[in-house]
Amino acid sequence: MKIAIIGCGYWGPNLVRNFVQSNKVQEIVCCDLDTKRLDRMKSLYPTVGVLTDYKALLDRPDLNAVAIATPVKTHYPIAKDFLSHGKHVLLEKPFTHSYETAFELIKLAEEKAVTLMIDHTFEYTAAVNKIKTIIENGELGKILYVSSIRANLGLFQPDINVVWDLAPHDISTLLYLIGETPVSVNCQGKAHFHPGIEDVATTTLNFKNGMIAFIHSSWLDPNKIRRTTIVGSRRMLVYDDIEPQEKIKIYDKGVDVPPYYDTYADFHFSYRYGDIYSPRIDDYEPLKKECDHFIECVSRGMAPLTDGYSGLRVVSILEATNKSLKLSGRAVQIQGVRDLNKKYRNNGNSYLMAANQG
Ligand SMILES: NC(=O)c1ccc[n+]([C@@H]2O[C@H](COP(=O)([O-])OP(=O)(O)OC[C@H]3O[C@@H](n4cnc5c(N)ncnc54)[C@H](O)[C@@H]3O)[C@@H](O)[C@H]2O)c1
Repeated sequence: MKIAIIGCGYWGPNLVRNFVQSNKVQEIVCCDLDTKRLDRMKSLYPTVGVLTDYKALLDRPDLNAVAIATPVKTHYPIAKDFLSHGKHVLLEKPFTHSYETAFELIKLAEEKAVTLMIDHTFEYTAAVNKIKTIIENGELGKILYVSSIRANLGLFQPDINVVWDLAPHDISTLLYLIGETPVSVNCQGKAHFHPGIEDVATTTLNFKNGMIAFIHSSWLDPNKIRRTTIVGSRRMLVYDDIEPQEKIKIYDKGVDVPPYYDTYADFHFSYRYGDIYSPRIDDYEPLKKECDHFIECVSRGMAPLTDGYSGLRVVSILEATNKSLKLSGRAVQIQGVRDLNKKYRNNGNSYLMAANQG
C-alpha cells in the first residue's frame, strides 16, 4: 500500500506514526498546508514524502489510499476528490458536517468500489470490546440507561461546537455497544465565549426500547473526565478511560422491587450491594489496530467495522443536536432511523469475532 496522510496537525501525526510502523505500507506522503508541520513530519520520519497541495496526488496511479485528518468542514470536499479518483479513504470523525454529504460519499465509495472507513477510535479499544462482550453475554441484564461524560478545559474549536468535537466518541461507542440508533435527540447547551459555538452541552438520546442515554460534553471543566456508566437491570458498569489499569469496574449492585404491595407502609425497595470486580483487558494502541484493519479492508475488499454508515449514524445524531439546540432542547427525530438500524448489525459482530480470536 502507498498512502498519503492529509492534515498533519494534532491528530494526523498519530496516523503517520502507525502507518510508518506497518510493514504493509511501502510509501507514505504527508500533506499539509502548513510547511512547518511538514518539516516536523520530515524530521521525525525522514523517509516520508511531503507536499502542500493534495490535488497533486489525485492522479498518481500508484497511490492507492489516503487518511484525512483535516478540520471537519474540509472532510467532504477532500474525501470526494479522492473517492472520485478511486482511492481508498480513511476519514477522521465526525465523518462530514451533514447527513446529505455523508450519504453522497457513501454512494460514491460504493460506485467506485473502494473502502471508506471512519476513524471512530474507541470502537477499536480493548475496553469497549470487552464491555460489548459483557453486555452481549447478558451480565448487566437489560440496559436501563447510559450516562457519559467527556470534559476538560479546552481545546476550543473555531468551527464546530463541543458536541461535534467531543460527543462523536461517546455516540459511536454507544451505538456500537447497543446496536441501535436512537429515535430522537434532545440537546441543551450554552456558548459562553464564542457566539454560536456551544462550549458546554448535554445530549439526551431516546431509544425505541425505552432505553435512554445522557452525554455531557464540555470544554469548560477543571478536570479531564472520560467516564461512562452503564446501568443494567442486573449489574452496573463504569468505564473510566482515564484510569491507567482498572478502566472497567462491574458493580453487583441493583434495586429489587417487591412483586406487589397493598399499602404505602409496605412500599419499599430492597437494595443490593454486592461485589465489585474489574476484568482484565488487553493493552494495545487502538489506532494501530484501526490502521491495520483499514489496510486489511483495502487489501481484502472487506467492509470496515466503522464504515460510512457508521459515520452517517453519528452525523445524523449530531445534526439533530444542532436543531434541538436551536429549539432550546426540544426533541428532534433522527433522519432515516430504520435504514440506519438495518445497516449495522453484521459488520460489528464479524469484527468482534475477529478481535476475540486475536
Ligand atoms: N480520532 C480521534 O480520537 C481524534 C482526535 C483528535 C482529532 N480528531 C479529528 O482529526 C481531525 C483534525 O483535528 P486536529 O485536532 O488534528 O486539527 P488541527 O487543526 O490540529 O490539524 C489539522 C491540520 O490540517 C491541515 N489542513 C487543513 N486544510 C488542509 C488542506 N486542504 N490540505 C492539507 N492540509 C490541510 C492544517 O494545516 C492542520 O495542520 C478532525 O476531524 C478531528 O475531529 C480525531
